[in-house]
Amino acid sequence: MSRNIYTILLTVPMLFSACNSTTKAIVPKEKIAQNVEVIETATIKSKPISKTTSVTYVNDKKDIQSLGEANIESFMVTLKAPLKQLIQIDKSYKSAMGGCSSIAMSRTDEYNAISETKVRRTALKYRNPKNKPDETDTIVMERFLANNTKKSLVVDMPNSYRVYKPLYMKPQCLACHGENISPELQKILKRTYPKDMATGFKLGEFRGVVVAKVKK
Ligand code: HEC
Repeated sequence: MSRNIYTILLTVPMLFSACNSTTKAIVPKEKIAQNVEVIETATIKSKPISKTTSVTYVNDKKDIQSLGEANIESFMVTLKAPLKQLIQIDKSYKSAMGGCSSIAMSRTDEYNAISETKVRRTALKYRNPKNKPDETDTIVMERFLANNTKKSLVVDMPNSYRVYKPLYMKPQCLACHGENISPELQKILKRTYPKDMATGFKLGEFRGVVVAKVKK
C-alpha cells in the first residue's frame, strides 16, 4: 500500500491561551479522509529549551479507531447521565456546575480503573487545569479547529495509539461554556476555576476533544 507522507512545520506557542489565535493546520481535509499517513511537526518554544514534537496520523488503523471510539462513547454516557439529572432537578445549572468538576473527574477515574483503554478530555481553551493539553493534543486540536471535521483522528505514539474525538458546541453546552453565562454561574466559575478559559463559545464551535489511549 502506498502512503503519502506530509511534513508540516508549525510553530506552537507555549501559552495555550494564545493558541487558538495562531497557527492552523494546512493539510487538506480530503487527505485525512483517504486515510493517508500524515506527519506534522511542531516546534514548541519554551524557556529555556525548545523542542520539536511530531504527530503521525494513522487513520488506516480501523480496528484501533473503532476500539477508541467505542470507549469514548461509553465513557461519555456515564459522564452525561448524572449531569442531565442535576440539570433536570435544578434548571439554573448551578447544581450541575457545582457537581460537574467532581463528577467529571471521578467518572473519568472510575472508567479508567476498569478499562484497559484510558480516556480523558482536554481543550485548547480549558476550564479545569487538570485537563491541560500536552503538545500532541495541541497539534491535533489545531487541526480540528482548522478543518471542523467530525471524524476522529488516530495518532501513533511510542507505546500506544491515541484516538481523538472532537466535541463541538451543542445548545445544551451554552449555559456553561457560551457567551451569556448567568451571573450566578459566573460567580461559581470564578471561585472554582479562577483561570477558566472555556467561556464565550458559539453554537457549533470546536470546544475540545475526548482522547482514548489504546495500548499497542
Ligand atoms: C453544568 C455546566 C456544564 C455543561 C452543561 C457543560 N459543561 Fe463542559 N465543563 C463544565 C465544567 C465545570 C468543566 C470543568 C470540570 C471538568 O469537567 O473537568 C467542564 C469541562 C469540559 C471539558 C474538558 C476540558 C476543560 O475545559 O476543562 C470539555 C471538553 C467540555 N467541558 C465540553 C462540554 C461540551 C461539549 C458540553 C455540551 C455537550 C459541555 N461541556 C457542557 C461545565 C459544563
